[in-house]
Amino acid sequence: MATLSEAYTETPLHLQHIIPIDFDSVEEVPQSHSWPQSDDESPRRMFNLDGDHFSIPAIDLDSPDAIEMAGHACKIMGIFQVTNHGIPSSLLREVESQAWRFFTLPARAKVKALRSPSGATGYGVARIAPFFNKFMWHEGFTMMGSPLEHAREVWPHGYRKFCEVMEDYQDKMKALSERLLAMILKYLGLSEHDVDWPRLRSNACTALQLNSYPRCPDPGQAMGLAPHTDTLLLTILHQNHSAHGLQVHREGQGWVPVFPMNGALVVNVGDMLHIMSNAMFPSVVHRVIPSENTHRLTVGYFYGPPTDFHVGPIHGLTQTSGQEDAARFRSITVKDYVQMKAKNLDKALSMIRIR
Ligand code: OGA
Ligand code: NI
Repeated sequence: MATLSEAYTETPLHLQHIIPIDFDSVEEVPQSHSWPQSDDESPRRMFNLDGDHFSIPAIDLDSPDAIEMAGHACKIMGIFQVTNHGIPSSLLREVESQAWRFFTLPARAKVKALRSPSGATGYGVARIAPFFNKFMWHEGFTMMGSPLEHAREVWPHGYRKFCEVMEDYQDKMKALSERLLAMILKYLGLSEHDVDWPRLRSNACTALQLNSYPRCPDPGQAMGLAPHTDTLLLTILHQNHSAHGLQVHREGQGWVPVFPMNGALVVNVGDMLHIMSNAMFPSVVHRVIPSENTHRLTVGYFYGPPTDFHVGPIHGLTQTSGQEDAARFRSITVKDYVQMKAKNLDKALSMIRIR
């Protein structure tokens, strides 16, 4: 069976779409990174922080209402934060500190971990970069399992700690993803049998993404991460302390910020959960705007089914009566969807929509 990494290798990238600029060496936003300003999409158009301000729900996973609240949040917005998630704060700090250790290296050291044109892991610009004619104020480091090969290039004698922390974090995130998914299934009134749970978990596709958004001399012109939805089932995001920048798009409200909450992790629905829920849960469109004062760091964990798993509306959700419940998507393997998304970005969902 193909790995997630192999699913990506069939869409090779050009080097210009891999190497980030050396943010340390620029004093102003270069043309290549200056995004056109339109009324609606302008990063300058910040959410009005006074007034009735939107905040995504925070759910205490130890609460007896956690299932109901998480399910409801998936339905209403496709995003929420969780506390009492069981990830030790010491591990979150360690992941952050190892990520800093990497991103604060000089550019010539970071490129030793450069993603290869047909590869899926390593250092580079955002995966969605080829879809935009401007570059983002962002650099990333993607891992799928052990980062050993890349880490050894960067720190021939000091790679161990980095690897240990990243592997430990991925193990714990996997368990948390499974716990959250089980809660969501329960909310939907489904049993693990309805989604072939053992197989879904057997060779889960997962990725860990370190994101760095350096300080930006003119954040109004720049884009940290362009609007997108996440591809897999769900994403768990750790944002460092007070550095906000993540925004979600809400009908009628436009772009609204997701403020970091100390100790909480952000969870969002991805395309595959949107598909499996037969569109009951929105795959939330989100973006990141950079800041003038803070170098922002985030750690995203993406969880999905094995590459040969067929993703489609879950039977139990579609076989009840009436048109309302008819399947809205055709079923597709994870591998095919990942490739379709890599080639078509936001058009991918509509390509499998049947009604
Ligand atoms: C992502 C993402 C948000 C952030 O990595 O897909 O949306 O705040 N990250 O870094
Ligand atoms: Ni995302």
